[in-house]
This record gives sequence, structure tokens and C-alpha cells, in this order.
Amino acid sequence: MTTPQLFQPTRIGDIEVTNRIVMAPLTRSRADEANGDIPGSTMNVDYYRQRSGAGLIISEGTQVSPVGKGYMATPGIYSEAQVEGWKPITQAVHEAGSKIIAQIWHVGRITHPDLTGGAQPVAPSAIQPKVVAYTNNGKVDVPVPHALTTAEVKNVVQQFRQAAANAIRAGFDGVEIHGANGYLVDQFIRDGANQRTDVYGGSIENRCRFALEVVDACVAEIGAGRVGIRLSPLTTFNDMRDSHPQTVFAHLVEELNKRGIAFIHFIEGETGGPRDVTGFDYAWARQAFKGTYIANNGYNREMSINAIESGRADAVAFGRLFIANPDLVERLKINAALNEPNPKTFYTPGHVGYTDYPTL
Ligand code: PHB
Repeated sequence: MTTPQLFQPTRIGDIEVTNRIVMAPLTRSRADEANGDIPGSTMNVDYYRQRSGAGLIISEGTQVSPVGKGYMATPGIYSEAQVEGWKPITQAVHEAGSKIIAQIWHVGRITHPDLTGGAQPVAPSAIQPKVVAYTNNGKVDVPVPHALTTAEVKNVVQQFRQAAANAIRAGFDGVEIHGANGYLVDQFIRDGANQRTDVYGGSIENRCRFALEVVDACVAEIGAGRVGIRLSPLTTFNDMRDSHPQTVFAHLVEELNKRGIAFIHFIEGETGGPRDVTGFDYAWARQAFKGTYIANNGYNREMSINAIESGRADAVAFGRLFIANPDLVERLKINAALNEPNPKTFYTPGHVGYTDYPTL
């Protein structure tokens, strides 16, 4: 029997990978918050090293600025201490033979002043989502955000550019722009969150402008072959909606294609939920986009092997399965049983549920 292509090497943009299994970005809330949201503790390094069987690791979301932070103890990538903190992580992954890119993230309106050092959350429009934030003061409704001025939007684009430059300095092989799940980039794209009347709102072209300016800034900084983006056209997570997802995301895919970026990473269906949601044609996107199509959301072994063999995807990203199975690639290869993830320890401090899942 021949080895399925899932387990064979390929290239994702400029990045050579040993297999087509990707570790999805996963918030784990275990950075050093007291000292400035710094990653790189021994425990953080161990966690990523343990998962280096993946052809490509996408880091947990890492905020591009203090106000871009939406959860407790998530790491940043804007300060020098944070860049230094990432270095032992990227080094350990490379020594183990894998590749790692930084997911660069701004949460926009999905945060609370308790998490941002007191700053008011920002967004395309002053629309309060029905979302709660978890802070050191408990569970709180997120407030009405400040609608960014046109000049402020330009400034956020520059923060993403700087984050991309910082990622390369920290030893990452590239970046994934977090354009999914109702965070800032997605808030601009979808009309449920964007009611602007300037060049960043209204028409589909205008709503995609921020995403494309962020992409262009990252491409200018580190090259198209090291830039990808994550999109979730149909998710309602974080109180999101859009009137015409097919038209909006088709425009975006065509524009991304012109830029020659390395990959688009699609969350197919409802984030962490049902896949059989209608409203966007992922098979069309696969055909229209010439770069790597990374598929995500609820894939198992058989689905992922089939997706690659049929040409529906070039790589498959696993999230929860990678939390519980550091040696996921080995297990999938031999069709071994998988450990079950424990949601109670997804975001808790310490080793438990982080670096203590057993390998075969
Ligand atoms: C989360 O921390 O719950 C989270 C973060 C980023 C996402 C989705 C969920 O894209």
C-alpha cells in the first residue's frame, strides 16, 4: 500500500514541510502575563516541541498590540521581550525538524479594558457584540467599541506589518494573519460588524480593503511566500454575520490570489461546530486560489486522507486533536487510538492538560 499524500512532503509557499498535517492555532493562555504577555517558558517550549511531528505548526494567536488582546495570558509579538521569548520556541521546533509560523492577531471588539491595560476596545464600527470576556475580575460583557478613525485604521495595518517583521526576527518561518472568527480583520469584512461610510466600509471592495492592506503590508515586509491568512466565511462565532458571504469571500479569494500568498486556511462551516452549513462554496475557492488550501474543522483521519487525495485540499489543520495528541502524526499514520482532549484545561495555567498528554 502506498503512503497517503497526507504524510508526504510538500511546499506551502516558500516553506518546505515534511507532511501535510498542520497544527492549528490554539489559544492556551499560558504566557507570562505579569511580565508583559511573554511566551517562551520551559513549559511553552516543551508544548511546541512535543507537537513538532506536524509538517507545519501555526502558533497560538499572538496579539499585535496591547489593545489587540482578548483573553488572559495570551502572548504578544510587539515588544522586544516578546520577540526574545518566541526564539527558544521557534528554535526547538526547527531542531525537531518542523516549521512554525506566527498567527498574528488583533481581537478588535472581542475584549474588555480589564484585558487591554484599560484601553477601550476598537472596531470598524461602534457595534457591541453579544459576547462575554473572561478577565481576572470574572465574566464580563464586552463593551461598545470605539470605531477606529481612518487614520487609526492605517496605524493598525502598520502594527500587523511590524508583527510580521518581528515574527521573522523571532525565528518564525512566516505568518498567518488571523482573518477569521469575528476578530478585527473579520469585523471589517462582514457587514454585521462593519457599517463604516469611509473607504473601509460599504461596498464589498471597501470591506475587504483592511484585510488586503494588512496582507500587502506583511507581503512587503517578509514576502508573499511566507504569508497566509485564516478565514471563516460562515462562522457565527463572536456574534458574526454577513448578508452575502459567497460574494464577499469570493472577491477576497480572487484578490488574495493576485497577491500570490502562500496559503488560505479555511475553517469550513461553524468554528468548532457543524461543517454542513451552506452559504460558501469551498470547492470553488480551492479551484480559484492557486496557493495552498489548508482545510480545517472537524477532520478525522479518513476525511483528511480523502481531502488530499481528491485534491479538495492541500493540507489539513487539526486543533483539538493536537491538544490531546502531541504525536498526532504518528498516530494518524498507523491509525492508532487518539487521546480525548479535556476542555477544562484548555485555558488553565500549568502543565496539566498542556504538556502531560501521553505519546504512544
Ligand atoms: C479562543 O480563545 O476561544 C479563540 C481564540 C481565537 C479563535 C477562536 C477562539 O480564532
